[in-house]
Amino acid sequence: MSKQQPNRRSKQESWEERYAGEDYLFGTEPNDFLAQETHRLIPGSRALAVADGEGRNGVWLAGQGLEVLSVDFSANALAKARALAAERGLMIETVQADLFAWDWPLAAFDLVAAFFIQPGQAQQKILFRAMLAALKPGGLLIFEAHAKAQAASEFGGPDNPDHLYAAAVVRRVLEEAGAEIISLEEKTIIRRGGRYPGKPASVVRLIARRPSRPQ
Ligand SMILES: C[S@@+](CC[C@H](N)C(=O)[O-])C[C@H]1O[C@@H](n2cnc3c(N)ncnc32)[C@H](O)[C@@H]1O
Repeated sequence: MSKQQPNRRSKQESWEERYAGEDYLFGTEPNDFLAQETHRLIPGSRALAVADGEGRNGVWLAGQGLEVLSVDFSANALAKARALAAERGLMIETVQADLFAWDWPLAAFDLVAAFFIQPGQAQQKILFRAMLAALKPGGLLIFEAHAKAQAASEFGGPDNPDHLYAAAVVRRVLEEAGAEIISLEEKTIIRRGGRYPGKPASVVRLIARRPSRPQ
């Protein structure tokens, strides 16, 4: 039996509930892919951590010397992100907003980092456009999320396959937006931390650049 998809308001409520406990749902270590790309980070530059949840990535970026704005629609998660930053003697700015209603800053960030934000395919396109427009010319987007093959997995990911990503669709959306794709792959990884340590996950990983000159 297929589950009925909750609307966005109830999705927000369900995330608030999931984040209400003391534990950090996805841990406090950064996403592996982001950590692998440390060499691309420029201390003192501005980063937007999209759907940053409890801040494992945004706070880590602040620890690398970046000036971080974390956005998520869960107030509980962002409170934990600020607490994690304070525990590490760091600061992050947070904003509670629905990404699909937010007045995104334009050409404001050197880096946009987005991990496991899984809207439906129509909204994926809107999201990529917003993330690219939030970048300064020459700025970088680092992104990872569950791929279509994750539908067959019992270890996490959205129930609705429309909310999974296909690399070919991501490529098309990025090319239409005039972005330079530095790397884009669909692969199976073994998770180190999070909710299913040691278990495989099918992901799309992307690094893209907003061109320095308008296309
Ligand atoms: C799977 S969690 C990933 C959290 C974080 N990026 C990480 O990797 O630990 C997905 C996050 O997206 C947020 N989210 C989902 N839909 C959103 C929306 N429309 N606007 C803002 N945040 C949203 C949730 O609150 C949640 O924190």
